[in-house]
Amino acid sequence: MQSSNQRKILVTCALPYANGSIHLGHLLEHIQTDIWVRFQRMRGHETYFVCADDAHGTPIMLKAQELGVTPEQMIAGVREEHMADFSDFFISFDNYHTTHSDENRAFASEIYNKLKEKGHIKTRTISQLFDPEKGMFLPDRFVKGTCPKCKSEDENGDSCDNCGATYSPTEVINPRSVISGATPVLRDSEHYFFDLPAFEQMLKDWTTGGSLQEEMANKLNEWFEQGLQQWDISRDAPYFGFEIPGAPGKFFYVWLDAPIGYMGAFKNLCDRENIDFDTYWNENSDAELYHFIGKDIIYFHSLFWPAMLEGANYRKPTSVYAHGFVTVNGAKMSKSKGTFIKGRTYLDHLNPEYLRYYYAAKLTNRIDDLDLNLEDFAQRVNSDLVGKVVNIASRCASFISKRFDGMLSANVENQALADEVTAAGDKLAELYENREFGKAMREIMALADKVNEYIAIKEPWVLVKDETKQQEVQDVCSLGINLFRTLMIYLKPVLPKLAESTEAFLNDELVWQGHKTLLANHKINKFKALMQRVEMDKIEAMVEASKESLAADKAKAKPLTGPLADDPIAPEIEFDDFAKIDLRVAKIVKADHVEKADKLLRLELDLGGETRQVFAGIKSAYQPEDLEGKLTVMVANLAPRKMRFGMSEGMVLAAGPGGKDLWILNPEEGAQPGMKVK
Ligand code: MSP
Ligand code: ZN
Repeated sequence: MQSSNQRKILVTCALPYANGSIHLGHLLEHIQTDIWVRFQRMRGHETYFVCADDAHGTPIMLKAQELGVTPEQMIAGVREEHMADFSDFFISFDNYHTTHSDENRAFASEIYNKLKEKGHIKTRTISQLFDPEKGMFLPDRFVKGTCPKCKSEDENGDSCDNCGATYSPTEVINPRSVISGATPVLRDSEHYFFDLPAFEQMLKDWTTGGSLQEEMANKLNEWFEQGLQQWDISRDAPYFGFEIPGAPGKFFYVWLDAPIGYMGAFKNLCDRENIDFDTYWNENSDAELYHFIGKDIIYFHSLFWPAMLEGANYRKPTSVYAHGFVTVNGAKMSKSKGTFIKGRTYLDHLNPEYLRYYYAAKLTNRIDDLDLNLEDFAQRVNSDLVGKVVNIASRCASFISKRFDGMLSANVENQALADEVTAAGDKLAELYENREFGKAMREIMALADKVNEYIAIKEPWVLVKDETKQQEVQDVCSLGINLFRTLMIYLKPVLPKLAESTEAFLNDELVWQGHKTLLANHKINKFKALMQRVEMDKIEAMVEASKESLAADKAKAKPLTGPLADDPIAPEIEFDDFAKIDLRVAKIVKADHVEKADKLLRLELDLGGETRQVFAGIKSAYQPEDLEGKLTVMVANLAPRKMRFGMSEGMVLAAGPGGKDLWILNPEEGAQPGMKVK
């Protein structure tokens, strides 16, 4: 759609680091941004949405070493994983690139050279902790030691978890390198600095002139009061990144080329799709540029980044929109509680649109943290989406298809109600534009309540029994279906998949302007269930699957042979630990399905006289009747565990990648139940 007030909009999300999986915290940002982008596209604006993996830096270099692969191999694998996760949450990027790209190298060099020409790059020799064994300078987080203030041991290199003090790694008592364990030594090296203070006035103007969030502007003012500092942009080899032009052995600090990665990702898209890069990035561009980020990285995006752009004669962001952090059940996401939930683990159990809706329902345009309370999540999705919105369609659809051959009537049975739902479009557009998604969802649900009330009062299921009231039934149900359609237009940025199924059901494409009209004399298709309720046991299974024992988390895991096997061998154990496990041959005397469990079978095992009940996650591979009579190997001395379905008194051994390929270990013939396995 082309019109005179069509805007040109470029939107980005912060670039996730290429050494970890996407989790529900990242997804808040990507879902928030995606909703906004889909809304802008629906309104007909030329909108591009790009992101990339942030591929450089010491942690990524070290992680690749640990896995025994090159950083290039590692980041390529992680990027594939990230793209699959985002795509399954319906994040509609126009491009998902990497900062380790030719485009990014070119922009980083160009911007650096321009800053240097203008005298904005300074050099200075600094003293830093150096790991003599590993032969590298140590970033703060790779130093540990005794807190200089409270003397607590094993504290971080830059801050103490015990007393909260912050300090320089050189002040740490008995410091050691987290990488090699060696005692670091102080060593001098020349570093390159970006002269941020030179941009103070420009930054002040940008802060007050733009459309920054109030909290962001306040934060910036605090930083101005403290005084801006020169920014260290170089790191010594070995480092995974771009070498600084004209400075052999010196590399750009990851945070220099990370935001430039926004330009690199967009350039890559421009080259592929013939879009004019300069229209969006030149100094006088009238296109809009927005960065959606988390509150932890405001400093980089609102000080360094605009200053770098200004210094290199590029346009500055129209705005930077920061959001708060996701907590789960009121606390920081935790691996031991199973609330550090990866996107993929979520997808294994639940529909992505539940999360999109829940986040939308709780988002504001402010920087407050957002709590994902798992019970509230289930309740909210069930009551709003299933109980209110989809319910309208399911109450009306069958009458239309059975009695009226799928035809919607030409009459508007209640004009006032139709007008009210239709008229909400402008206000909702304003709320979406201002990123007040929570308010928008509340408005939409209030309208859904009204439509449901209307249907409840009209009672088409009663009218239908009266032969003289058939027209009224068609009119009432047609209005119901029509208003369901209008609500789904409003919800389309949040629920693209549900909108797609609705389009198929209604034979109609849901476009924003469509909210102003109703379908009349229009044929619809047969109604199929559009969304299932959230089940609490799926949520519990997701939490269970996210639990990692603290011990396993702390110990270093060894990689499996494949470079990116996300199933590393567990931490090494001693022979004594192994000897504690009592493996016995057991006969499966009975196997049954467990009601409401997707993966479990209940097994009754004969241990040579003693019978045990064990719940085993092998339903994907076996029918119960195939198992009865078979021998297997079980851990006989595992402490009984209370599960939702009953006690599990041991564990059977199975092997394989999962799904259909999961084999119960079948001991050779001649084994007797109860025999020890050696
Ligand atoms: N690589 C940098 C960003 C460079 S942008 C030029 C980075 N990566 S990150 O993977 O740590 O985080 C990516 C984004 O996810 C950031 O905006 C961060 O704030 C956000 N979140 C990470 N954990 C989060 C929560 N628990 N909750 C909400 N957002 C969170 O920072
Ligand atoms: Zn301390």
